[in-house]
Amino acid sequence: MSSAQPSFFQQLLRKKPIVNDGNSYGLKRCLSAFDLAMLGVGAIIGTGIFVLTGVAAATTSGPAVVLSFMVAGAACAFAALAYAELAASVGGSGSAYGYSYAAFGEFLAWIIGWDLILEYGVAVAAVANGWAGYFNNALAAIGLGLPEQLTKGPLAVHPVTGEADGGLVNLPAVIVVLALMVLLISGVRQSAALNRAMVFIKILTIAVFLAVAIFHVNPDNWSPFMPYGWLSFDQVGKPLGVLAGASIVFFAYIGFDAVSTAVDEARNPQRDVPIGLISSLVFCTLIYIAVSGLLTGIVYYTELNVSSPVAFGLERIGVNWASALVATGVITGLTTVMLVLYYALTRVLVAMSRDGLLPGFFSDVNDKTHTPIKNTVICGLVMAAMAGFVPLGALAELVNIGTLAAFVMVCIGVIILRKTKPDLPRPFKAPGGIMLPVMGVISCGALIAFLPPHTHERFIYWLLVGVVIYACYGWRHSRLRK
Ligand code: ALA
Repeated sequence: MSSAQPSFFQQLLRKKPIVNDGNSYGLKRCLSAFDLAMLGVGAIIGTGIFVLTGVAAATTSGPAVVLSFMVAGAACAFAALAYAELAASVGGSGSAYGYSYAAFGEFLAWIIGWDLILEYGVAVAAVANGWAGYFNNALAAIGLGLPEQLTKGPLAVHPVTGEADGGLVNLPAVIVVLALMVLLISGVRQSAALNRAMVFIKILTIAVFLAVAIFHVNPDNWSPFMPYGWLSFDQVGKPLGVLAGASIVFFAYIGFDAVSTAVDEARNPQRDVPIGLISSLVFCTLIYIAVSGLLTGIVYYTELNVSSPVAFGLERIGVNWASALVATGVITGLTTVMLVLYYALTRVLVAMSRDGLLPGFFSDVNDKTHTPIKNTVICGLVMAAMAGFVPLGALAELVNIGTLAAFVMVCIGVIILRKTKPDLPRPFKAPGGIMLPVMGVISCGALIAFLPPHTHERFIYWLLVGVVIYACYGWRHSRLRK
């Protein structure tokens, strides 16, 4: 009898059969292709373009930050095509986690799921901190500033001196996460409607920036265009240049993959999820190229290392209402980023729980709201606590590497499934054989390599924690094992 038992390694590699049966497990199919594209734009445009553009231009790429955006955008495009193919053919919820379960088996699927929890969960808490900063400034500007003790957590440090500078709690960060929790509980249709409205406001803000900036470009500001070349290193070995800049601005693209977690709530997932993924990515890439090109055209790149470079640029060209305009764009923009990433987090947890790798209450769906209420509340409370009390700098750095690792796995997943399941119906198929997914593995792998070494180290620790949790829980409770 024992010879019939699968070995330890066979169990780690147990694969989930591909059953693309359209079952939505109590979730409501109410999202159109447009809603999905709006979710994508909602998750993508945020801190990356409003803050990182300046930092990356001033410290790493120079005016060639526009090329950094193109390189990062190309890496994401390869990954997006891979996501689109697997979302249409493998389907199933949980995005990269679900595809990995079909392509590589349970253990790697768990690792990718654990990785997505990092990407989405930490990103929400980190973005909530950035949001709170802008929100506090806006309150102070209208004379309603909060007491300082309520604007930072107890472990906060001074951004310049690095000395302890704690308060009680970052109250706005806590409140915004809890407000999004209530919204997501109330229903996906309501959340998508509010998302649409806020995405509109942030795009309008960017459109105003583009319309004003284009008349103030001084081409001299673009010279030298590539002060640090494609890739170079400073005295302490820190990578510089267009490619290193690409691994920084990559953060600006994070979130398009969140669209693929909505397969159970899309009306026509096989058609609409690929459309939502690819159209939101193309749209945002064009916006990023335009914004970064114009920003370095109106201000010399060395001056852009400021916390709000877009507002700084506008003030420089005499647009005095710039701060208010940009603050509106950032506050609404970051709200949609948090909303969509939070949504994606809960849907990945639903998928992992359905497979038995996490406790069952994560996938309980409420009959009335058709949303996973318990899961949404648990995530909301944990992320609100993180946003309110924990300094997130070090963890936030892990978001890029976690996402890139998921992209690499999804691209490899496409290659493996093309070989192992050549006859799988593929309503959407990335063109050019396996060339594009191979380019995805290479480009996303290279962006991982350009990240600082301490980020690699911390990521390995995060994965080890995941392995321990899997050994203690998922391994035993996996539905496939049963
Ligand atoms: N892409 C998102 C942002 O830039 C995470 O804020």
